[in-house]
Amino acid sequence: MSAPAPAGSPRHTQLSGVCIVGTGSAVPRRTVSNADLEKLMDTSDEWIVQRTGIHERHIRDDEAGETTASMATDSVRLALESAGLAPADLDMIICGTMTPDMPTPSVACIVADRLATGQIAAMDLNAACSGFVYGMNVAHAFLASGQYRCAAVIGADTVTRHCDFSTLGRAEAVLFGDGAGACILRATDDTTKGLIAQAMHSDGGGAKHLFIPSCRGDFYDAAAYDERRIGRIVMNGTAVFKFAVSTFPKLIEQTLEQAGIGPEQVDHYICHQSNARILGAARERFGLPEEKLHVNIASYGNTVGASVPLILDQQARAGRVKPGQKVMFLAFGAGLTWASSLWQM
Ligand code: UT7
Repeated sequence: MSAPAPAGSPRHTQLSGVCIVGTGSAVPRRTVSNADLEKLMDTSDEWIVQRTGIHERHIRDDEAGETTASMATDSVRLALESAGLAPADLDMIICGTMTPDMPTPSVACIVADRLATGQIAAMDLNAACSGFVYGMNVAHAFLASGQYRCAAVIGADTVTRHCDFSTLGRAEAVLFGDGAGACILRATDDTTKGLIAQAMHSDGGGAKHLFIPSCRGDFYDAAAYDERRIGRIVMNGTAVFKFAVSTFPKLIEQTLEQAGIGPEQVDHYICHQSNARILGAARERFGLPEEKLHVNIASYGNTVGASVPLILDQQARAGRVKPGQKVMFLAFGAGLTWASSLWQM
């Protein structure tokens, strides 16, 4: 039996050898500013910036063929390129999405077909905004067990399809944007790298705070039924805000505790971009500098499952995420769901 680690030292001495070897992302070409939204609904740039920190977002153009699957495919293609790998190297694709283009086939199957990967494992995973982080943890389990060698994990959503761009749906419509991001995970013999700690949680009791009804019976509160909201996001923003503000620091603490390290030992916090105020509160709580807890919501809005891999790709391409660093991925969203994944790069 090995001697216990001295107090305050990390618990991980030997890791799984699973590495993040490439990243990619894709967003729609069209940007929609707060001023553009002012023309569609009773809102103002001032209200949106003050409450959310968002200035503009990218919104898909159906006519241009911008779909969840098209952006997911582009992001995996770029991630493979950055890893120096080919589609044929993949054994598995997991796509975290709550807005597949069709109920079936899955986005992952469409991506596999478009990239001509051959007949590999491919599936979608619906954990809403937490989908990509859930996907990383699930893919890691398959790679660490030796069942697969190489996986693409995607976060992709076109949630603006479910937004009502009139005053009725303004609270939700100003928040969201579309996009996709992906990373490639690969099993290696280097046991200095891999997943250090992870957590996946849910509370179905909070599902009523954020849902997309498809019929009258889906409304949690029968009195709140409104035909115009069928197929649209119904959100209790205040309840989701309170959940996020209280859950976020607990999730960070739980993950640090599992790893046996302090907040300052993490080099990057790559977080779901739901609201700049929620991220600011977490930054303050742990005394984290801006260059460690990244925020890009001003230009993209809340892109649901895409927000975490989108920031990862931006930071990786800017050369800020480097080998030897520790990176914590964090997300929370509808379900309710919340998840973390701490990696030694
Ligand atoms: O990925 C997870 C997904 N969701 C979230 O993370 C959302 C978390 N929640 C939030 O970010 C905030 O709750 C919102 C930004 C959605 C809303 O901010 P808030 O400070 O909670 O505002 P509120 O919903 O309490 O609304 C305040 C007022 C209301 O008017 P009255 O009743 O005070 O007259 C709303 O009708 O602001 C009004 N309002 C707006 N006004 C202008 C709501 N949406 C808008 C809007 N423009 N877009």
